[in-house]
Amino acid sequence: MTIHAGRPTVRALQPSLIRKLANAAMGRADVIPLWFGEPDKPTPEFIRQAAKDAIDEGQTFYQPNLGIIELRAALAEYTNGLYGTSFSEDNIGVTPSGMSALAVALQCIVADGAAVVLPSPVWPNLPAAAEILGAEILRVSLRPSDGLWTLDLDELFAACPPHTGALLVNSPNNPTGWMLEDGEQQQIIDFCRERDIWLIADEVYNRIVYDCDCAPSFADKVTDADKYLIVNSFSKSWAMTGWRLGWLTAPASLIDTLAAVSEFNFSCIFAPTQIAGITALQDGEAFVSAARARYRAARDLIMSEFAELPRVCFPLPRAAFYAFFAVDGVADSYSFAEKVLAECGVGLAPGAAFGPQGEGYLRLCYAAELPLLERALRRMRPLLA
Ligand SMILES: Cc1ncc(COP(=O)(O)O)c(C=O)c1O
Repeated sequence: MTIHAGRPTVRALQPSLIRKLANAAMGRADVIPLWFGEPDKPTPEFIRQAAKDAIDEGQTFYQPNLGIIELRAALAEYTNGLYGTSFSEDNIGVTPSGMSALAVALQCIVADGAAVVLPSPVWPNLPAAAEILGAEILRVSLRPSDGLWTLDLDELFAACPPHTGALLVNSPNNPTGWMLEDGEQQQIIDFCRERDIWLIADEVYNRIVYDCDCAPSFADKVTDADKYLIVNSFSKSWAMTGWRLGWLTAPASLIDTLAAVSEFNFSCIFAPTQIAGITALQDGEAFVSAARARYRAARDLIMSEFAELPRVCFPLPRAAFYAFFAVDGVADSYSFAEKVLAECGVGLAPGAAFGPQGEGYLRLCYAAELPLLERALRRMRPLLA
């Protein structure tokens, strides 16, 4: 029989372990699903209404590759407001999701055989988007220390061989909630300058952060002379996962390349989606703050529950909406997640899905109502105690 499995690089990609676990039990009424990473609430009504109006006006035609100019300008203004920067629409390319922003960013700069170095554990789509291009993936471990996740920058820099094409840094991090400090970001950008390496910064969780209004960003450390691409998305901040809307911030000199790569990937994005994005940026701050307060209460609930369970090691997430925890005696996270699903009816993501550095851990998405989380924690207690 002829087998059609695609080219070897693509055949070698690991299917998502989260999907593998969830596929068997998705939609089962008795399962509390905390495996995927998305807000539990639908997009706010005022954002949905903006898209409906645009559809009713007949805005159904092809659009510019880089996004409509009004959205690009609104994104520049939004970033400038948060970080005191001076970006213009010439620094912005709109993409159909943070995922495709990542893919397009890598396509712009990473050549076959280049090394891509990234802190890990990390959302598996980051390394996969580079692997598809034939890049060599080199992971540097995040480690728990004094109850927080940390990255040793010397180790990161030492891990970059001469053929490094890009440093790919996801801060705030999925799954750990680790976050770079301003000073660390400065050291990373200095290193990239010195070594002439591209920096791709995935900052999609920059508004879901517990000690401040927005996470430290590379946005206020780069200049137009730097080699950088910053990935962001509407998915998490404004509960818009299903819309597929993201953006890239880049040096103005890269924008024509970005437009070309965008044309040959997705061409353009539905205008009503982009108009919904403008509305989110302009009127969505109250929603962002309220969502953050809900996630914080959920995080605190989990913290106090896990503090009573001596077998559970739970470094505090400073951002994002995930509890990434280890259980003493658990070495195989996939088998343990299967056990939690079978015996407790709770869907968790196995830590191994986030790279070898995640093995032994489980990820619980706490973007959920407190009573639901309380129920899940009660069900899991016998296995975690
Ligand atoms: C770290 C990280 N980056 C990017 C994304 C992409 O989000 P989206 O494609 O929905 O914009 C996600 C989604 O889970 C993520 O966790």
